[in-house]
Amino acid sequence: MNIFGGSKEHFGLDIGANHVRIVSLSASSNKYTLEAYGQAPVPPGITQSDSKLDLQKLARIITELAKHAGINTKNVVSAIPGTSVFNATVKLPPMSQAELEKAIKYQAEQNIPLKIEEVKYDYQIISEDSTTKELTVMIIAATKNKVQQMLELLSYANLNVLALETSTVAMARSLAIPTVPLAMILDIGSTTTEIAVIENGKLIQTRSFPLAGFGMTRAISQNLGLDMNQAEQFKQRFGLSQDKLEGQVFKVVEPILKNILDEATRSAKFYQEQFGKSIERIILTGGSSRLPQITEFIKTYTKMEVSYGNPWSNVSYRSADSDKLNEIALEFATAVGLAMRG
Ligand SMILES: Nc1ncnc2c1ncn2[C@@H]1O[C@H](COP(=O)(O)OP(=O)(O)OP(=O)(O)O)[C@@H](O)[C@H]1O
Ligand SMILES: [Mg+2]
Repeated sequence: MNIFGGSKEHFGLDIGANHVRIVSLSASSNKYTLEAYGQAPVPPGITQSDSKLDLQKLARIITELAKHAGINTKNVVSAIPGTSVFNATVKLPPMSQAELEKAIKYQAEQNIPLKIEEVKYDYQIISEDSTTKELTVMIIAATKNKVQQMLELLSYANLNVLALETSTVAMARSLAIPTVPLAMILDIGSTTTEIAVIENGKLIQTRSFPLAGFGMTRAISQNLGLDMNQAEQFKQRFGLSQDKLEGQVFKVVEPILKNILDEATRSAKFYQEQFGKSIERIILTGGSSRLPQITEFIKTYTKMEVSYGNPWSNVSYRSADSDKLNEIALEFATAVGLAMRG
């Protein structure tokens, strides 16, 4: 979603439930160079809070992080959380630009489950049929409240907002693999999972839902009678392994992961029905994709190929940074994609 236009020097800011992350890149003739990056943990629940005090606290964390990382611009591109965004992909007959604007408004009213006055919406033409000239268009809408709140947060941090996007648009940019024209990005974070179908580097379809790593930890804590810290450790150590701890962690995590993967399969099916092509590859990202044995599990369960996404693959950086960047690759796809916005 581009609420404002512009292509100035900026940094990308990803406000996750667990960490805020920033990246700045310099670009010359489509080649990116890493200038600065960093992440800072945020207090639990703060990113979901509406209170002014919490917004100011979060703003201070962002300001400190930017300073610490050596960011030297106030211009920022950030992302509205996927769970506050609605989207719909629609097909439209060929028409003039003015007609298109009207048709989009009508389609937004029909397809977005909120009053049109309460949302800000934007659209992107995904494709045009070469014979019928029929357009496939994706409409993205976010509640005005959420947009206002993001702008308020960023103004507390003294930042100049160039654009607010969605994290899936950003990830499509940083994780696209040229040799795999059609794929599904699966970002399993802390409170949110995001699904993005990308074709030739472009986002075609996206979906978010509030089920991810935090839900797994909470379920382990409840079922095994552990506190949240212990449950987190058990999750990270044993994951989906069936022979460790008599598979107790596996038994708790498996149904949650299956729920997540059922959503992914549903998206793949929906894409196939709409576009007639089957998705054969999942690009896995997000902190929860570190769950031990997850790739094997996903392969068996979804029958799709699985690989880890690497947002640094189109970025050059000092070789001395290579280990550190590889270590955080699974958590930085959104921040890198936001930094790549032209
Ligand atoms: N080794 C591991 N095994 C399993 N889960 C892990 C591991 N390391 C981190 N996680 C989980 O990853 C999650 C954090 O992921 P990430 O940093 O992508 O989230 P976020 O971007 O801050 O939040 P969100 O995207 O939901 O707003 C936490 O739930 C954490 O428990
Ligand atoms: Mg995230």
